Amino acid sequence: SGIWAVIPAAGRGTRFGGDIPKQYLNVAGRPLIAHALDALLAHPRVVGAIVALSADDTRWPGWTHWNGKPVLRCDGGGERADSVLAALQALPPEVPASALVLVHDAARPNLHDTDLERLIAAADLAHDGAILAAPVRDTLKRASDSDRIAATEPREGLWRAFTPQAFRRGALTAALQQAQAAGIVVTDEAMAMERAGARPMLVEGREDNLKVTTSADLALAEYLLTQRVR
Ligand code: CTP
Ligand code: MG
Repeated sequence: SGIWAVIPAAGRGTRFGGDIPKQYLNVAGRPLIAHALDALLAHPRVVGAIVALSADDTRWPGWTHWNGKPVLRCDGGGERADSVLAALQALPPEVPASALVLVHDAARPNLHDTDLERLIAAADLAHDGAILAAPVRDTLKRASDSDRIAATEPREGLWRAFTPQAFRRGALTAALQQAQAAGIVVTDEAMAMERAGARPMLVEGREDNLKVTTSADLALAEYLLTQRVR
């Protein structure tokens, strides 16, 4: 059945600074969120998108369709997970609980078709959903109380979690509700699912599927997206 894209875009970009929330920063001539919509709605099985926006957002261009597919909006919440849960609850009621949803950061503009295809293929078969991720490459240091090294941590088996993250609508909604009720802030959807006892799959994706957090990331995204032929 049809897959919905869920795009949390209600953040304030405090680590980036400046007046413009990251999702509306321009890269390769278009706002980051436009690149996210492009990548997700290009997939033939993705039937629509819902965008969670801050209640005081004045910059949303009011898109109602993209690539001929509906784009819905809803109010986000105080934390990323609150925004995702609000969006899941605002999906059309006819979207079945068993339908896949793809949660993808508005500030992650360089998702490639090949990664999206591999993620969806994995999520179709995985019982507990799947996420794009990449193995950690750096040597990891644990700091002591100050800024001295206390230990070197083995990096084997450690991954960096990216988006999109693909789950069944009903299971993800329940997992996010449980975390919210327990007062636990989950930083991605998989973390909510893990807390609920699920074991989502890791799908190794491209390292250049970056989230824009700082101005250095913005410069890298500009480079990557102007190089790209879509
Ligand atoms: N997000 C959201 N609702 C929130 C917080 C974040 O929808 N309450 C969204 C952001 O808009 C972004 C994605 O979640 O698309 C990833 O979050 P992050 O990179 O942390 O963005 P911000 O929260 O905007 O940035 P910062 O943490 O630096 O303030
Ligand atoms: Mg944030």
